[in-house]
Amino acid sequence: MKKLIIINGPNLNLLGTREPEIYGSLSFTEFLEEVKRKYPNVNIDYYQSNVEGELINKLQEVGFSYDGIILNAAAYTHTSVAIGDAINAIKTPVVEVHISNTFSREEFRHTSYISPNAKGVILGFGLQSYELAIQSFL
Ligand code: DQA
Repeated sequence: MKKLIIINGPNLNLLGTREPEIYGSLSFTEFLEEVKRKYPNVNIDYYQSNVEGELINKLQEVGFSYDGIILNAAAYTHTSVAIGDAINAIKTPVVEVHISNTFSREEFRHTSYISPNAKGVILGFGLQSYELAIQSFL
């Protein structure tokens, strides 16, 4: 069975209530249950943290044994050299995802420290971005 993990960064614990016009009104827990039901033959773990170092600790922890990491580093995408470095330091491929199309938003969201080190990038499809990332590993 393929072992994947979705890692969400800061403020994504508030999905469903946070700026629903941008991020939708479904909570991530509800979405995850749906996706797990849809892919019963894939092991899909989930981790969320608002803390940069905790995200790095998790990447290091799973980055030598999992088949794939689906990472939405949220705002750290645009600021974190350390998360970019962590992706280079591990073996498991990382697919970067974003719910919104960051290129149609503010200029500061157009840069990513994740993209140069990611296997691929999926953005702008709402929560479906995560599902497309799962499919990319199957
Ligand atoms: C986001 C886009 C980021 O710019 C923002 O800081 C987020 C969410 C997205 O999924 O669309 O928190 O990563």
